[in-house]
Amino acid sequence: MIETLNVHAGYGDGPDILQSISMNAHAREIVTILGPNGCGKSTLLKTVAGFLKPRQGEVRIDGQHAEAVPIHEKVRHFGVGYVPQTDNVFRTMTVTENLLMGARALDRQTRAERFDALMVQYPTLANKRRRKASALSGGERQILSLARALMAGPRILLLDEPSAGLSPAMMHEVFDAIERIRDEADLCILMVEQNAYEALSISDRAYVLNLGSVALTAPARDLLNDPAMERLYLGGEPEV
Ligand SMILES: Nc1ncnc2c1ncn2[C@@H]1O[C@H](COP(=O)(O)OP(=O)(O)OP(=O)(O)O)[C@@H](O)[C@H]1O
Ligand SMILES: [Mg+2]
Repeated sequence: MIETLNVHAGYGDGPDILQSISMNAHAREIVTILGPNGCGKSTLLKTVAGFLKPRQGEVRIDGQHAEAVPIHEKVRHFGVGYVPQTDNVFRTMTVTENLLMGARALDRQTRAERFDALMVQYPTLANKRRRKASALSGGERQILSLARALMAGPRILLLDEPSAGLSPAMMHEVFDAIERIRDEADLCILMVEQNAYEALSISDRAYVLNLGSVALTAPARDLLNDPAMERLYLGGEPEV
């Protein structure tokens, strides 16, 4: 479980971008963060991941104060995997090399087992395992970045716009993959998304941010069914 308690955070000596954010996400849950561009969604994820230190408040992972552990040990210590919004694969490396990079800390056998399991789970990657990441499509790269995070065997997965720039078909593939991960591996998934309808339809709960604060939190189903929410926060009618 991850939680933030009245977290304030910002960059350098700039203003607070996050203002007193309290939120949480549990195991076997997909929690989606929605909100307009620049409202602080990525900043919140970076703060939960430990790349940004809260100025006030606390990030807790499984009830433990998260700052006590250096960033590079977060995955091993707390099981937190983070897939950033951009630059999430090494383009000059092959699919296989990218995946193995995700599990440097593991012993050889666990690494081999995870790799084989992911090859079964993601045939697209298996077929292109010797290709350079730069030769994959955008959607295939998104799947690769997800799979690479899974190589480390995280219990908590932080995903920053996993469907960004994808065609509808590829977007559905990525969301299906995320849903399966939650159901098969009991993960706690915290995801930032612009594609609100599609994200909510696989999510359990959502937080809507505005100007660095939580404007609203609700079960995903309620948000999907509420016409006012649709107009205010979800940007109009869904594409069918
Ligand atoms: N590295 C940085 N240094 C300084 N300010 C930053 C940095 N990254 C983001 N910001 C500022 O923080 C605010 C929130 O940015 P953030 O990236 O969290 O927004 P977002 O909700 O993820 O937006 P988007 O939907 O466009 O990805 C913005 O005003 C942005 O200019
Ligand atoms: Mg962002």
